[in-house]
Amino acid sequence: MEIRKNIFWVGAVDWNVRNFHGHTYTTKRGTTYNAYLVVDEKVALIDTVYAPFADEMIEKISEIIPPEKIDYIIANHVETDHSGALPRLLERCPRAKVVGTQKCKEGLYKNYYGNWDFQVVKSGDSIDLGRRSLTFLEAPMIHWPDSMFTYCPQEQLLMPNDAFGQHYATSERFDDETDQCALMEEAKSYYANILWPLGSVILKKIEEVKKMNIPITMIAPSHGIIWRKDPARIVNAYASWAANKTEASAVVVYETMWKATEKMARAITQGLTDSGVRVKLYDIAESDRTDVITQMLEAKGFVFGSSTHDNDMLPALGGFLELFKGLRPKGRVAFAFGSYGWAGGAVKEIEGVLQEAGVETAMPGIGIQYAPTAEDLKRCYEQGKAFAEEIKRR
Ligand code: FEO
Repeated sequence: MEIRKNIFWVGAVDWNVRNFHGHTYTTKRGTTYNAYLVVDEKVALIDTVYAPFADEMIEKISEIIPPEKIDYIIANHVETDHSGALPRLLERCPRAKVVGTQKCKEGLYKNYYGNWDFQVVKSGDSIDLGRRSLTFLEAPMIHWPDSMFTYCPQEQLLMPNDAFGQHYATSERFDDETDQCALMEEAKSYYANILWPLGSVILKKIEEVKKMNIPITMIAPSHGIIWRKDPARIVNAYASWAANKTEASAVVVYETMWKATEKMARAITQGLTDSGVRVKLYDIAESDRTDVITQMLEAKGFVFGSSTHDNDMLPALGGFLELFKGLRPKGRVAFAFGSYGWAGGAVKEIEGVLQEAGVETAMPGIGIQYAPTAEDLKRCYEQGKAFAEEIKRR
């Protein structure tokens, strides 16, 4: 697949991967590992693929040029979904120079222990390929400390590795060819589940690139679809997510033992609904965590509930909140609720997580002993309504 004249996509489509990052991310639409081959007087490969797809990538390269002709392998990022094929590829092109940041050099060594010819680059450094060149921009923490972007000025092409990607396996390669809803849904899911805690770094990097005033007419990330029709669309979406722009909506997430907490969750949800706040309700023991986090990205309010078990919340919610805590969402409001038998404890534990996550507990928690009465449910309903007003007020 030629994406620009003599620049080829030589990546791999992983149609069936369903879990990523150690089961923290459900890739229900699979993913792709994108690698790009620039054929000029010198030949450069930008990133590689996950190790099980190394031979597939090498075959694709071999259809274009003998792999031995590769002069540079640009390693934008250490993570093994992009570097896994490096050892296998370097067997075929032992004279190729690996190019990346200092942190990339260190990270690759600690992953593969190969004594490769490595050229360390910094922001602003370039490599001349003949008619074209590649310029590098360090992008620490998008997604790891080693990350960088590669830019080809002659083609106005940005290859930002993880940034602007999607876990989205398709036979199409470009944004104008694919299902638009699925594309933006996966881009949002990817941002929410991977990049959410890095918003301030992302905002700064977007500003930095804008100030550089470099033309970008194509963004070719390392996962999913290439943005050629409207690259600004995904940049603007990132700017909005990174700025923590939210809407007056709420997400209620709960886990229940004997349905008492569930009844409370439904009453709170009804209160929010009747006050005109869009709400989504999830029993986390039955729901996909990746989907729930995606829905939370643009919501102003979060409500978490659990039955008490051994003085603590139930484990599915506990696991979910462990992930949630790492997202460090800014500018959100929340409260906790749950049913208990004798001592209670879940509400307090949830409030502790909210504090650790830096999320404001905007309303007192509601704990109800055993099954809620009609009066208890009225209280939950009214708290839902009050929370809706709080969300609208912010
Ligand atoms: Fe797609 Fe951070 O690796």
